Amino acid sequence: MNIVLGIEGTAWNLSAAIVEEDKILSEYSLPYQPVGGGIHPRDAAQSHATNIKKVISTVLDKADIDPKNINGVAFSIGPGMGPCLRTVATAARALSLLLDIPLIGVNHCIAHIEIGKWLTGAKNPLILYVSGANSQVIGLRGRRYNIYGETLDIGIGNAIDKFSRAFNIRHPGGPKIEELAKKGERYIKLPYVVKGMDFSFSGLVTAAINAVNREEFSIYDVSFSLQENAFSMLVEVTERALAYTDTHELLLTGGVGANSRLREMLKIMCEDRDVRFFVPDKKYMGDNGVMIAYTGLLMLKSGITIKVEDSTVKPNFRPDEVEIKW
Ligand code: ATP
Ligand code: FE2
Repeated sequence: MNIVLGIEGTAWNLSAAIVEEDKILSEYSLPYQPVGGGIHPRDAAQSHATNIKKVISTVLDKADIDPKNINGVAFSIGPGMGPCLRTVATAARALSLLLDIPLIGVNHCIAHIEIGKWLTGAKNPLILYVSGANSQVIGLRGRRYNIYGETLDIGIGNAIDKFSRAFNIRHPGGPKIEELAKKGERYIKLPYVVKGMDFSFSGLVTAAINAVNREEFSIYDVSFSLQENAFSMLVEVTERALAYTDTHELLLTGGVGANSRLREMLKIMCEDRDVRFFVPDKKYMGDNGVMIAYTGLLMLKSGITIKVEDSTVKPNFRPDEVEIKW
């Protein structure tokens, strides 16, 4: 029976977990909360450095196991913010050397997918991965996760966060804009940008900020319309990818997957197409240590480990760079 300790810390959430084959033994997080504005990479990394000892000792205590029984240490090697990645990688390397166990460098995007499959039982789904920095429509093709469509500029989460920051709404803006959008009463016209299988959000955000600033429309109506457009763009591309690949399962993952309007729109589309729609527990859609520990376990079992000297972080690591051997 393999046991893996995993550490996540690509951006806002420093989180660790210990996972055994089909069970979560422990998990603990100490998220970074920016004082004002968005996530500052160096501040976030400093916060992770301050908290890492507590996070790791807490998961070890909670799991109530002898560290000697841990078979591997997994960490998010990328994509993510350089200073944050380096902080977590340093801790993971130290643990690997100290316990004399393999080190496993996990692709953060793939971890979002694998935990979703694990927790929902989806077998071979198309995946809509929507988070702060990323927005991608992905599917497993042979031994690679193929990216069928993606954002041409910023991720949907960062787009919504940027809109909310313009009105001094504290980070993360996503959940707060969702609440404001519920009070929206009319749809206003905003940019809708889908190019082939890709989409883009920055023009939409700028137009939305301007619409509120010019006092033409209320923040409620603009939040509502912003969500309607952004999510429709995502649903359009997802639906097309389902059709192209003749897939009958859809998995939603990433922090923005918590949004109930996005879920509703996807659910309607899936029902129309006879597609089973899988949504993991909210807690595991955003960044978390369990997804890294679990994906690390799959990798360890497939013999995919790295030497400490080869474990340089990859801030732009894409999911289609990884050969899926499990
Ligand atoms: P990645 O590196 O995968 O891009 P991330 O660091 O952005 O991950 P996640 O936890 O996956 O982290 O996603 C965070 C994003 O999710 C933030 O932009 C946040 O505003 C957004 N978000 C969270 N809840 C909601 C919600 N209810 N509606 C819309 N967006 C949300
Ligand atoms: Fe993430």
